[in-house]
Amino acid sequence: MSPTEPRGPEVDALLNLLNEQRVFEPSADWRAYAIANDPSVYERAAADPEAFWATFAAELEWSRPWTQVLDWQPPHAKWFVGGQLNASVNCLDRHVRTSRRNTAALIWEGEPGDRRTLTYWDLYRQVCQCANVLKSLGVTKGDRVAIYLPLIPELAIAMLACARIGAVHSVVFGGFSAEALRDRINDAQASLLITADGGYRRGQIVPLKQTADEALTGTPSIQNVLLVRRQPGEMFPVHVKEGRDHWYHRLMQDASADCPAEPMDSEDMLYILYTSGTTGKPKGIVHTTGGYLVGTYATTKWVFDLKDTDVFWCTADIGWVTGHSYVVYGPLQNGATVVMYEGAPDWPSKDRFWEIVERYGVTIFYTAPTAIRAFMKWGTEWPAKRDLSSLRLLGSVGEPINPEAWMWYHEHIGRRRCPVVDTWWQTETGHIMIAPLPGLTSLKPGSATKPFPGIVAEIRTGGGVAVAKGGGLLALTTPWPGMLRGIYGDPARFVDQYWTRWDDGVYFTGDGAHVDEQGDYWLLGRVDDVLNVAGHRLGTSELESALVDHPAVAEAAVVGRPHEIKGQSIAAFVTVKEGIIATAGLSDELKEHVVRKIGAIARPDQILFAADLPKTRSGKIMRRLLRDVAEGKALGDTTTLADPNVIRRLKDEYEALES
Ligand code: PRX
Repeated sequence: MSPTEPRGPEVDALLNLLNEQRVFEPSADWRAYAIANDPSVYERAAADPEAFWATFAAELEWSRPWTQVLDWQPPHAKWFVGGQLNASVNCLDRHVRTSRRNTAALIWEGEPGDRRTLTYWDLYRQVCQCANVLKSLGVTKGDRVAIYLPLIPELAIAMLACARIGAVHSVVFGGFSAEALRDRINDAQASLLITADGGYRRGQIVPLKQTADEALTGTPSIQNVLLVRRQPGEMFPVHVKEGRDHWYHRLMQDASADCPAEPMDSEDMLYILYTSGTTGKPKGIVHTTGGYLVGTYATTKWVFDLKDTDVFWCTADIGWVTGHSYVVYGPLQNGATVVMYEGAPDWPSKDRFWEIVERYGVTIFYTAPTAIRAFMKWGTEWPAKRDLSSLRLLGSVGEPINPEAWMWYHEHIGRRRCPVVDTWWQTETGHIMIAPLPGLTSLKPGSATKPFPGIVAEIRTGGGVAVAKGGGLLALTTPWPGMLRGIYGDPARFVDQYWTRWDDGVYFTGDGAHVDEQGDYWLLGRVDDVLNVAGHRLGTSELESALVDHPAVAEAAVVGRPHEIKGQSIAAFVTVKEGIIATAGLSDELKEHVVRKIGAIARPDQILFAADLPKTRSGKIMRRLLRDVAEGKALGDTTTLADPNVIRRLKDEYEALES
């Protein structure tokens, strides 16, 4: 699928306008006390990026030192070659030998209000016990373990336990359907599934085990299931299959808390995480150990200015990369106190997040623009009635943040005291790539500002010409430590997807961006067939496959539509098979069908039945025109269409429906 160029003149006009807006300079305190407060760091990192990253690597614990920082054979990178280390040692053992031993590592709150605090020592012991449980179930180094859990401490424990024995974790977000879980288990050939009886979301029970049981009807690689009880008592009745399913709490009871960590090669796999791409099949993004740990450690420390006194809360679910990197690996390597909350931000009332900030004295808060826009809609009275004075830094991730949301966040949550760091990165990049350093960077509402030191980004035209100022495609031109090492089981797709847009070994992000006079980056969203709905990444073809899987559907085309809160919403154009009558009932059924196939995050907002879809003479659906229809815009160039009447009709029908 060839990416389209981001639209030029309108975007330029908007950006000029934005540039005239206020710039927020770091305060004197921030300049003086931020961990990263030496402006020469950018130059130094650019002059010798390997030395720059090696300085951070040297702050971690290695059981064998590396002999070479980088071996770059585009598009294949090896970082800290020859070195050995273990992720769980760097997150735990390193801290339990110091005064951090009895400080809180995880402060967890369940949606119903249950609370647990695990000190570093508690977490260390439970991870070791869990690692021994995994061993007792036959898991060994290199085996894949699927994890399908609510946002409970056991999720972090399970990941770190895998890391401790060298097993590869593949966390599947608890909102995914049975089918999505099954596909991911099968793709990774996981031998163990770790799941729970259930979890809570908006006061409802999410019956994870029941969904997992459905997935497990077609997963021959799974030998055992480790079953966590979300809370004592038989809250969620579940089916326990004799010989296959094992209660976590029973096995943990007898497990030893002594589990030496497996020394891992820097390039040994740490995890796989599935994400959506431009085809129907999600990609298993592979991250390895050394570079990923260094990248997450460094960016957590500098972008969030993480200090011992901080209480760090990243609201992302651990099922997404943000949770992997900034709930688990980044903050724990830094010895931070991490807040985890299981449920919805508006449960039981719309100040739940602010209540949590107040209760635990959260100092650093990291969330997504979708959430911020929802807070805006709910009104300022909710944050206003809580004490948010502990906050000192705010972060944003996952989608472009509109300047209005940035300003609201700064004013009503940060109370004008807290810098806002907008952080751009991807599942593939492993860690933050473009973001301010709060003690150094002038902030512009809506801009992710500058690449992190040692990272080299570039705006390019489709033809590969670098754009010094203006809009284009966002490329990353040099390797970075946490970069993906591949797509699990599909080396050809890895090369094709990311490295063939241009022919000079440069990574194509799939995003459009604009760079201004000061070299600040403004992210404009995806330019490929990937949607970003409420910060969740979904491929249009993945959604289309789900729709055409329904017996009534002949063809489907999905496009994103701007949405006030979610950033984008899903609009599906569907043609039905001969003899099928398109009714409102069918529309609802199709929405449910997509939920069953993928999960609730993929529910289409709008289904429009069409007699025909606009196609080129060679039969390719022209999504660009469907986007124009869904966005209520004038139709773009229709000259290449086989039958221009199709799209005109569709536009009329759509407008009639909307009015
Ligand atoms: O389009 C960009 C958008 O999210 C995509 C990556 O999605 P995912 O792999 O799910 O990871 C999300 C969390 C890192 C990117 O290609 N994106 C992410 N952060 C930003 C963003 N767009 C604009 N501004 C951001 N700060």
